[in-house]
Amino acid sequence: MRNIILGNTNVSVSAVSLGAWAYGGPQKLGPRHTGWSDQRDHDSTNTLVKCNDLGIRHWDTADVYGDGKSEQIIGSIWDKLPRSNIFLATKTGYDPGEHEHYYHPDHMRKQMEKSLSNLRSDYVDLYYLHHCDFGDNDEYFDDALEVVRRFQEEGKTRFIGLSDWDASKIMKFIDAVRPDVIQPYRNLMNDSFVTSGLKEWVDSHNTGVCFFSPIMHGLLTGKYTQPTNFKSGDMRAGIEEFTNPVIINKIRENKTLLETRFADHPNPVMHGIVDSLLTDTETSCVLLGQRNVGQANVAATLGQKMSDADSDWVKNLYRF
Ligand SMILES: NC(=O)c1ccc[n+]([C@@H]2O[C@H](COP(=O)([O-])OP(=O)(O)OC[C@H]3O[C@@H](n4cnc5c(N)ncnc54)[C@H](OP(=O)(O)O)[C@@H]3O)[C@@H](O)[C@H]2O)c1
Repeated sequence: MRNIILGNTNVSVSAVSLGAWAYGGPQKLGPRHTGWSDQRDHDSTNTLVKCNDLGIRHWDTADVYGDGKSEQIIGSIWDKLPRSNIFLATKTGYDPGEHEHYYHPDHMRKQMEKSLSNLRSDYVDLYYLHHCDFGDNDEYFDDALEVVRRFQEEGKTRFIGLSDWDASKIMKFIDAVRPDVIQPYRNLMNDSFVTSGLKEWVDSHNTGVCFFSPIMHGLLTGKYTQPTNFKSGDMRAGIEEFTNPVIINKIRENKTLLETRFADHPNPVMHGIVDSLLTDTETSCVLLGQRNVGQANVAATLGQKMSDADSDWVKNLYRF
């Protein structure tokens, strides 16, 4: 596995890193499906061990995933591998708690302590503000930033991260936060990382980047042959592209084209859809949601440098 340097952090992480959202299992927050169905805990733990063996040692989780379950699964692994092997990231911002806002300072502190307890660690390597909704008038922003900086001073986190599904919201706050790492939504169906100006910003500030949902929750693999519905509690139940036959057919066509173009690669489709993203910026890795050992083994074949010509060719296939 090729490593990249996560910008100013100077930390080397695998170009394909691990996203552990699914390990939290199914979940609903109000009417929204926010988890993943059919995840078995022994698959999660076996995948963590396999990832460590394969050199995938940057793991991303959040306080909210399975209401702490994803963090607990990770925290249960330290009898099998040393904590110091792993560059461990978690986030706060979507667990509503008892306060009037997710970013109430008291709540943030409670969440940090809960995460450290779940993770059975006295520090994390990277702590993200999970989203950029800081109240109707951004009234929680100053406190939220102060609290994460305090966490850093206290040694509870080494680095500070900023995330959101909407790249323009990250742009709105990035000058004020000056994060070590950003975590934007990025896959071949969404290039707002580039169009929002975020790419230009991170390139000029040498900021670390972790792209989330790089294969659009599995949709871009082309393994879906027809519109598909998911169980309650599975976040894919709320992603309309999974039920759009036009998109599914186009992705199937692209799958065939990728299999031909990258026939020499053991996993040509995954190579095309994942590795083309890594050309966006030198300081970027992807957070791929590997749910089992088989998917970890596939991930380990990815992460090589792709030529700009190949990357542009792949990206063009998904501009429809
Ligand atoms: N900051 C944020 O707001 C935010 C938001 C979303 C995600 N994230 C982070 O990003 C990570 C990844 O995002 P994601 O889970 O949404 O999407 P993803 O990585 O695009 O897709 C992951 C899904 O694709 C399927 N898959 C994985 N490897 C595969 C392979 N080799 N072949 C075929 N299918 C494969 C698996 O589902 P099946 O096996 O069921 O098909 C897996 O759950 C998360 O775990 C989380 O850490 C952060």
